[in-house]
Amino acid sequence: MPEQDKPRLVVLISGSGSNLQAFIDQCADGTLPADLVAVISNRPGVKGLERAEHAGVPAITIDHKEFDSREAFDIALAERIDALQPDLVILAGFMRILTQDFVSRFMGKLLNIHPSLLPKYPGLNTHQRAIDAGDAVAGATVHFVTPELDGGPPVLRAEIPVEPEDTADALAAKILVQEHKIYPLAAHWFLSQRLKLQDGSAYLDGDRLAESGKLFADTLLEQRS
Ligand code: GAR
Repeated sequence: MPEQDKPRLVVLISGSGSNLQAFIDQCADGTLPADLVAVISNRPGVKGLERAEHAGVPAITIDHKEFDSREAFDIALAERIDALQPDLVILAGFMRILTQDFVSRFMGKLLNIHPSLLPKYPGLNTHQRAIDAGDAVAGATVHFVTPELDGGPPVLRAEIPVEPEDTADALAAKILVQEHKIYPLAAHWFLSQRLKLQDGSAYLDGDRLAESGKLFADTLLEQRS
């Protein structure tokens, strides 16, 4: 497919960008038929920017510390994103609380991944909180972004067992492997018009998804297109 016919993807990051790397790889090998038009980081010098540059993807820094307010940063960010005319905006470890205006501007085409089984553990330290609570399973959730922090409707979740010896870091590493599968898959569903946000709920193939989203299984990767 010619580049100009492919849907346009913008990925926002704040750090390592391992989820970004999954998008880079799947766009490059055609698993995800999308054009990754830019990566934007609110932190300068992070590894995710290097990953973008290495892949030949425009890597943009908009340093939030250079703005007087959250509102001013979000306006600058939104204008930059709008100029890129994305079909989908991916938050991939983008560690900023977004203003209502920003979310409203992109709602319906704004996805996030959160390292917990939402609605459990919005916010930070999700893995330690799962361990401290004695949870038998932990995981990650892709969800549509709405103004409520980590509160938008879940789309797809991956679950893994919590082993007695798991530390927060060990759990995070195991969950990241799952994140790299579920996030591009959810983006694929969206870009192929299968996934939509409608009246505050997530719909896949016309069916309203459960409150916790769909549970990931490897068979879903085979039924991708
Ligand atoms: C991922 O685990 C992602 O789920 C999490 O940050 C990590 C980013 O890793 N996101 C959040 O906590 C958002 N609330 P990455 O930079 O290697 O993709």
